[in-house]
Amino acid sequence: MYLGIDLGTSGVKALLLDAGQRVVASASAPLEVSRPHDGWAEQNPADWIEATEAAVSLLKSSYPAALAAVRGIGLSGQMHGATLIDAAGAVLRPAILWNDTRSHAEATALDADPRFRAVTGNIVFPGFTAPKLAWIRANEPAVFARVAKVLLPKDYLRLWLTGEYVSEMSDAAGTAWLDVGRRAWSPELLAATGLDLGHMPALVEGTEVSGTLRGSVAARWGMGGGVVVAGGAGDNAASACGMGAVRAGQAFVSLGTSGVLFAANDSYRPNPASAVHTFCHALPGAWHQMGVILSATDSLNWLCGVTGRTAAELTAGLGEALRRPSGVTFLPYLSGERTPHNDATMRGAFAGLAHLSDRTALAQAVLEGVAFAFRDSLEALREAGTELSRVTAIGGGSRARYWLKAIATALEIPVDLPAEGDFGAAFGAARLGLIATESADPHAICTPPETAETIEPDAALVPAYHDAYRRYRALYPAIKGATS
Ligand code: XUL
Repeated sequence: MYLGIDLGTSGVKALLLDAGQRVVASASAPLEVSRPHDGWAEQNPADWIEATEAAVSLLKSSYPAALAAVRGIGLSGQMHGATLIDAAGAVLRPAILWNDTRSHAEATALDADPRFRAVTGNIVFPGFTAPKLAWIRANEPAVFARVAKVLLPKDYLRLWLTGEYVSEMSDAAGTAWLDVGRRAWSPELLAATGLDLGHMPALVEGTEVSGTLRGSVAARWGMGGGVVVAGGAGDNAASACGMGAVRAGQAFVSLGTSGVLFAANDSYRPNPASAVHTFCHALPGAWHQMGVILSATDSLNWLCGVTGRTAAELTAGLGEALRRPSGVTFLPYLSGERTPHNDATMRGAFAGLAHLSDRTALAQAVLEGVAFAFRDSLEALREAGTELSRVTAIGGGSRARYWLKAIATALEIPVDLPAEGDFGAAFGAARLGLIATESADPHAICTPPETAETIEPDAALVPAYHDAYRRYRALYPAIKGATS
């Protein structure tokens, strides 16, 4: 038995996988995001541990024998977060998350140093880890002086699970300190933010062993000794392992808190100018590219909060069949924007409102706005030399059929829905746990699920979607100066 643990932004999910790769059970515990200022997003690392304990306790109460049989654990997690640890291993301040854009000035300054794009293959986005440390150095110097280690969220969880300071390539690629082509920390880039190799955890591949579970945790969870903890992956690469997107041409669209259009590559193909992210994959010798939207389901959740309606209530009014875009345009830039504009200070917008624009019209515009943001990412991937012919949908938002139809029509490619099951980040993490524990062939394990259904673009509405996408593209430059 293998346990996958995904430390997401809205919760921790724990999933039990048997040796035949059947999901035995899964359980989740929620997490809150604290937003003390506009553009900030923080979490307390202690809450990650509490939520992990809660999720695993749920598994323990219903599946004690399966949990006791766990031989290997794989970790997945929200990427880029800065968890600052002092010399005694204590957390110095709340972790600054991937969608926190406070460090945009520091990111711009680092990005202007040509070594960053040359070595990392990426723009230094404000959400990445290095500019966060530059912000801490400038704004909280007493904290910065005490930083002994910088850990990504799931690697903090690993420290608690194993006592080891270890990261792996896919998540490390999102720090702006990794030489992504060589898969090694860059002492030069670390020095540019006042840090050195001693501040970094050791690196393994996602499929390798990173340590073993501490005896006290193993005993509490009813497990034996010697439980392996695999390197694991950042949540997008972990999802890719779950979806079998590990070879060139395999791709998925993820509708979670963030939105991601992900393509696996068999070589390192950086193209920072397109605002595409080029990261190491969790499998050795593999890389991937992706476009990232900061607020995907988060945009619909925001509208739910404002209207006091659930997502199901808001989208029920749309019915089954895809509608023509109504003329209301929504920009989903609630906490800034990554691909393609890299604009941390931009905020969201509705445009084209009319007396007839009711709640349903606003919900429709939000779903379309996120679909058009994915179209932006598709164009950015194209610019980076990656052509997608179809994508598989995952994430909480992929249960909304209307949304998938809108995405297929906006992207003008088919969207595949996997057969019933759970193929997300926790599943991918459990697969990595299995691979590391059994020295299994990653390609034999990370196979794609069967497709239950394919959602084709609505050919009759493609022209109307095209027009609406043109309005969407025009809106950002038109209102840029007025909103930020
Ligand atoms: C990827 C990114 C998000 C987070 C979400 O670059 O910032 O997808 O990984 O957890």
